[in-house]
Amino acid sequence: MNDYLQNATLRQMAKMLNLPLPIPPVLKRNSDAYSDHELITKKIVITGKENEFLHELQKEFHSKISAATIYDASIDGLIVSCIEMESIEALEDLYTTVKNVVNKIAGNGRVVIISRIDDSSALSYTVQRSIDGFSRALSKEIGGKKGIAVNLLKITNENIMPDEAARAAFFFLSDKSSFITGQVIELNNSFGSSFSSPVKLLQDKIAIVTGSARGIGASAARVLHREGAKVILIDVPAAKQDAEQLAQELHADVILEDITDIKAAADIQQYVINNYKGLDILVNNAGITRDKTIAKMSIDQWRSVLNVNLKAAINLTEIFIEKGFNKHAKVVGLSSISGIAGNVGQTNYSLSKAGMLAYMHAVAKKNPDLFANAVAPGFIETKMTETLPFFVREGGRRLSTFKQGGLPEDVAELIGFLCSPLSDGINGQCIRVCGGSMIGA
Ligand SMILES: NC(=O)c1ccc[n+]([C@@H]2O[C@H](COP(=O)([O-])OP(=O)(O)OC[C@H]3O[C@@H](n4cnc5c(N)ncnc54)[C@H](O)[C@@H]3O)[C@@H](O)[C@H]2O)c1
Repeated sequence: MNDYLQNATLRQMAKMLNLPLPIPPVLKRNSDAYSDHELITKKIVITGKENEFLHELQKEFHSKISAATIYDASIDGLIVSCIEMESIEALEDLYTTVKNVVNKIAGNGRVVIISRIDDSSALSYTVQRSIDGFSRALSKEIGGKKGIAVNLLKITNENIMPDEAARAAFFFLSDKSSFITGQVIELNNSFGSSFSSPVKLLQDKIAIVTGSARGIGASAARVLHREGAKVILIDVPAAKQDAEQLAQELHADVILEDITDIKAAADIQQYVINNYKGLDILVNNAGITRDKTIAKMSIDQWRSVLNVNLKAAINLTEIFIEKGFNKHAKVVGLSSISGIAGNVGQTNYSLSKAGMLAYMHAVAKKNPDLFANAVAPGFIETKMTETLPFFVREGGRRLSTFKQGGLPEDVAELIGFLCSPLSDGINGQCIRVCGGSMIGA
């Protein structure tokens, strides 16, 4: 069920009756394939501390946006580079810039702040790290009413070039990242790949998405296909009808197998080896909940959640690490804000999702030829959350900056970003797609 407050008539009625209901902003989403014109209509100001980095960044965006200045009456986006702000006093530039434009940012606008950790002195390190708090606070302060997303790109690898930061910023300025706000995203990986256009980002890539007959997995499969990948859908035999219907739509392959089956990982690996030159993308999405407080939780409920959500994902990833991954393959694991904050009745689920986050981090660290990142959704409107009691669902929605649940498409776009060269600067990280949920923030 979708958020009832997204219904235009109900919103109007609530407003007319002056009911003290949170009226969530309507988020603008773009589900078209990436194009060179993705941001061309957006009036974006790129400002900050004057230096080489800022000038290079401005050049990167030169032909991609509608340039704007802080003197324009209304803008759609703002990038503030804080690189080389080295003292507490220097942060006043950040204060002044944001203060002067904050009320001019249009609905569904974007703010991307860029910092760069400089540990040459305790002071410079502290100044740059403190920007984390500023950006999180700003996201909560300005996001709610107008659906403005604020995110920080924090450079922690000194070799990251302005073009790598620009690629990540491209996604966070776009209407594909509408439900992501309040995040501190580390750019920690200097990969040095060249990149000129976002068109058909995943052309000729071979991608597996587990649990893709419905929900977030099905949306992820659609995004990967849209960007040019050949998708292999994996789901349980009971999901045959949905999986085959989606396969027809996406010209995808289907493997109907329970991923916890003892021979599932080897079967899937063999399928890829027999039919393709290797695997470029693995999305470990299949997941289940079996909620009970621990005193009432059966060993079957404990085991089934750990086996689907974590063990099967590890087995599948490890077998492709042994043989089957192409160089620089991208692995994405579905974690959850429950894995970050913990949740009553979910000791099994929260453990599995914290485990997924840890596993993606470990895979990235131990395999220099792979990218591995986790995605942590907040409350997303799917069949999984449809079964929750009304007040739990309402809590999940309203405890976010945007006062609403996200859509499977929001998670899918983040997965698409993390499977693409736009995110080559990001490795071993976890990004939340939660509308700025207070849970675990
Ligand atoms: N919906 C949310 O709010 C939310 C929040 C945080 C995290 N997540 C995570 O996102 C992922 C997708 O969630 P969703 O809401 O789309 O769930 P969903 O229940 O709608 O879909 C899950 C899919 O996985 C498949 N699946 C389950 N067990 C399987 C198995 N053993 N082998 C193969 N396929 C299997 C199911 O058949 C189904 O098609 C899960 O890992 C979930 O934990 C969801």
